[in-house]
Amino acid sequence: MVGEHERHDRVLVLDFGSQFTQLIARRIREERVYCEIHPAGRDLAWIREWDPTAIILSGGPTSVYDDDAPTADPELLTSGIPLLGICYGMQLIAHLEGADVQHGKREYGRAELAIEGSNGLFAGFDGGETTTVWCSHGDHVDRPPEGYERVASTASLPTAAFRAEDRPIWGVQFHPEVAHTHRGEEILSNFLFEVAGCRPTWTAGAFIDETVQSIRDQVGEGTAICGLSGGVDSSVAAVLVHRAIGDRLTCIFVDHGLMRKHERQQVERMFRSHYDMNLVVEEAQELFLGRLEGVTDPERKRTVIGNTFIEVFEATAAREGTDARFLVQGTLYPDVIESHSAGGPSVTIKTHHNVGGLPEEMPFDLVEPLRDLFKDEVRQVGRELGLPEEFVGRHPFPGPGLAIRILGDVTPERLQVLRDADAIYLEEIREAGLYDEIWQAFAVLLPVQSVGVMGDARTYENVLALRAVTSRDGMTADWFHFPHEVLGRVSTRIINEVSGINRVTYDVSSKPPATIEWE
Ligand code: XMP
Repeated sequence: MVGEHERHDRVLVLDFGSQFTQLIARRIREERVYCEIHPAGRDLAWIREWDPTAIILSGGPTSVYDDDAPTADPELLTSGIPLLGICYGMQLIAHLEGADVQHGKREYGRAELAIEGSNGLFAGFDGGETTTVWCSHGDHVDRPPEGYERVASTASLPTAAFRAEDRPIWGVQFHPEVAHTHRGEEILSNFLFEVAGCRPTWTAGAFIDETVQSIRDQVGEGTAICGLSGGVDSSVAAVLVHRAIGDRLTCIFVDHGLMRKHERQQVERMFRSHYDMNLVVEEAQELFLGRLEGVTDPERKRTVIGNTFIEVFEATAAREGTDARFLVQGTLYPDVIESHSAGGPSVTIKTHHNVGGLPEEMPFDLVEPLRDLFKDEVRQVGRELGLPEEFVGRHPFPGPGLAIRILGDVTPERLQVLRDADAIYLEEIREAGLYDEIWQAFAVLLPVQSVGVMGDARTYENVLALRAVTSRDGMTADWFHFPHEVLGRVSTRIINEVSGINRVTYDVSSKPPATIEWE
């Protein structure tokens, strides 16, 4: 552990627009080294000021020969800072060093990497051994630049990795950050510890200490309110801020009527019995449902809910007599990436309400202590903060709640149907002992009716979709392979016990190309 006032080593990931940039960051954090992703365009002065222990240049969709190709300051290569170029990052190093980059031979998928030496990036490998790596590129480098040597190749890449002879600079054409590269974690770990000499000091405990301090710095003597949804993210955020500023934090739990069955009671019980926090429960069901009347577009639902949330906060905070200037939110890194690009040209998929759906003019400054973390990192922080396991392990639940799980009109009747069906589904999953194997499981009410037969009568009622996915961080996901008898039991119970549903289907789409939620 570094001493209290000693700084953590830190890695700067310069983002050239790869879809995998956040995975690089994850892998580095898993090695307990602090890192941040910044846009490729940062200049050398900015970089020196940030003072990285090492830099990684990510992949990207462009060619170094494109007119608007993002680049880096060539002085980076003589700065003495250890550098790893991945895919486009490697091509850029070659280009800046005056070597040719071969254009236009696309390669996508697995390759066998033949390793020539067993040091630096490949410490722990045997010279001459091969290992499976994953490639995704249009351009590549055939011959290393002057002053560099080749250290690995594949059948189609004469130089699949190179290193500078006299500086700690390495380039790899493949992607060590993806799981399909079998020993990718080892390669990145070698870069951090063998090449760059980083120390693994970045832990959940260190994160908590530093975050508590930075919350104190940000809020000063001010007061804050927190939108508590009862989910893991807002709860961990609230506990962190509470640790920093104590009773100058007021948590507001807005019952927007879009919760799951008994959720409000569970959240209230949990926070009142476990924490000595100021908690206000605000009843706003009618307001939200009124605003949502006739709203069927998913993005519109998010905006309406986001705006109404803020309105209710303001009113509640004013009524409670707090003059809060700060609003605490449990925004996570994937929310930030998927709502806005971190600097690269990735596109907006959905505006998650705790980021993109907020009004532009807000009377609050945001406090978002989890903004750089992935979900499983938040869970680790939650455990470290002493939150009960059954709470930390809860499946994620979206801010807009059941509104984005009722396709089409959101009405009290449809909410009731969905709530009852969803409760049966989760009950059976817990009963089967599968809850912790699943990232997220929920029911979706479709705007579709189908014909059925019950007793001797014809029915014409709603179709319900069940969704369950496995995932590591919500960025990608696969559908969960239920034992058939569990699905059968859930379906039978829902159709028998929930009036209004006569057909149950199971969603077998992965993300991508689908998303986890249906809206
Ligand atoms: P998608 O559907 O984008 O979901 O694959 C990824 C993760 O984010 C959650 N999600 C949301 N969370 N506000 C939130 O706070 C939102 O608007 C929102 N939309 C999706 C989703 O439940 C999954 O865990």
